[in-house]
Amino acid sequence: MTEPAEFRDRMRRVWGGADYPALAERLAPAAHDLVDALAPGPADRVLDVAAGTGSAAALARERGAAVVATDLAPRMVELGRAATAGTGVVWLEADAEALPLPDGAAEVVQSSFGLIFAPRPEVALAEARRVLVPGGRLGFTAWTPDGFMGRMTAAMLPHTGAPPGLPDQMDWARPDVVRDRLTAAGFGEVTLTERALPWHFDSPADMTAFFRAHSPAHAAAAAGLGEERAAAMFADIEAMTGPPGEPVRLDAAYLVVTATD
Ligand SMILES: C[S@@+](CC[C@H](N)C(=O)[O-])C[C@H]1O[C@@H](n2cnc3c(N)ncnc32)[C@H](O)[C@@H]1O
Repeated sequence: MTEPAEFRDRMRRVWGGADYPALAERLAPAAHDLVDALAPGPADRVLDVAAGTGSAAALARERGAAVVATDLAPRMVELGRAATAGTGVVWLEADAEALPLPDGAAEVVQSSFGLIFAPRPEVALAEARRVLVPGGRLGFTAWTPDGFMGRMTAAMLPHTGAPPGLPDQMDWARPDVVRDRLTAAGFGEVTLTERALPWHFDSPADMTAFFRAHSPAHAAAAAGLGEERAAAMFADIEAMTGPPGEPVRLDAAYLVVTATD
């Protein structure tokens, strides 16, 4: 079992280890879906957990909410601060499992593809609930196991191995598991809505080059494997997506999950 502190320190470095903003752009439509589902307004204080470069945080701010954006990785906080400069979004470096906010500090807690990286889901959900006011709204997005990101993650595992002692990230989009988790954490009125990001790449090789350059998880996996084994992993991913040299069109399916305190 990876020690929580050791894992956290590694993740702080890993998430700063790629040129993330281009991936954030590809994920941005999901941030729109999430913020639309939560519909924050001027009367709301919004906490964005694992905010990355701030796509969802900025949208909540545009709707008039007071927004605090948090992320574990110093590099993400730096990029997010720059991307939202002048908008009034407040940034803090923080672990989703230990939020530096008092109880009842937010009407809305949101996380676009961020909460799903917490190594102890029950701890992260308890923290989200603690900082919400009674009746507050939680929302997050999560990759579905059968969608492209779920299948790509599964294709990587024979190469990288599963991180020891960590839960399956895809559980965040398995309806039974996520409902049970939310209920156990004290949330109710759970809604699950499946959506997809329509992604296009010029070729399978272009697609893996994109992930290698812009996805911190892929960059870290490749660095850990070394060139030869990383090439085998990326070849398996490319084989999932179509013939060499042909354009790639895929739907990266995800759930928008909402719940009420
Ligand atoms: C895929 S990115 C999503 C970022 C952003 N929400 C977006 O939609 O672009 C995942 C983010 O989770 C952050 N993260 C990972 N583990 C975390 C943790 N335990 N606590 C807080 N943030 C974490 C990473 O630093 C990264 O910014």
